[in-house]
Amino acid sequence: MGKLVIFDSLTGNTKMLADKIYDFYKQKGEEIKIIDAKKENEEEIIKSINNSDIIFAGSWTDKGDCSDKMKSIYEKILNKKIFVFATCGFGGDKTYYSKLLERVEKHIDKSNQIIGSFYCQGKMPLSVKERYISLIKANPEDKNLKVSLENFNNALAHPNDDDLLELEKVLKNIY
Ligand SMILES: Cc1cc2nc3c(=O)[nH]c(=O)nc-3n(C[C@H](O)[C@H](O)[C@H](O)COP(=O)(O)O)c2cc1C
Repeated sequence: MGKLVIFDSLTGNTKMLADKIYDFYKQKGEEIKIIDAKKENEEEIIKSINNSDIIFAGSWTDKGDCSDKMKSIYEKILNKKIFVFATCGFGGDKTYYSKLLERVEKHIDKSNQIIGSFYCQGKMPLSVKERYISLIKANPEDKNLKVSLENFNNALAHPNDDDLLELEKVLKNIY
């Protein structure tokens, strides 16, 4: 039984992490398969999960949790080793990443073992920036909105090479 990377990515950020994980093990000559959850049918996904012993499961962050697609996939994984990875718009704060991970863990059956996790920031669509700008115009005193706009600008550079190197370090240490 080999490894499986399965991910859901709307705009490509989480796919970058998924590809990195795939390449890392492929280069080591290990048996690994990668699935874009949106492009594969459910039967194939379940078959691939059952044929793997370690599942690297990744999602973009949607309203403080993983995507609905990944929720339903996490819920189907039983008796496996799972590595959780994700990208999120708000970044750089390990406490925030821990909170997001806690929410994702709620979708994971107790028969599984979580062997590691990786979170990093990921750029957001321009529409989010436009919304912040119009809100700031309407509420110029609101400091939180300015912080959100700053965060949006920081996110534009992520995931970057440093994030991918950090992910590689985490992978080197999972067993
Ligand atoms: C509808 C929507 C909801 C989002 N909700 C959150 C959120 O609650 N927290 C967060 O940190 N980022 C949130 N984001 C930002 C994305 O999770 C982030 O940009 C991510 O890197 C996108 O990954 P992808 O390129 O793989 O789709 C949201 C983005 C969208 C479009």
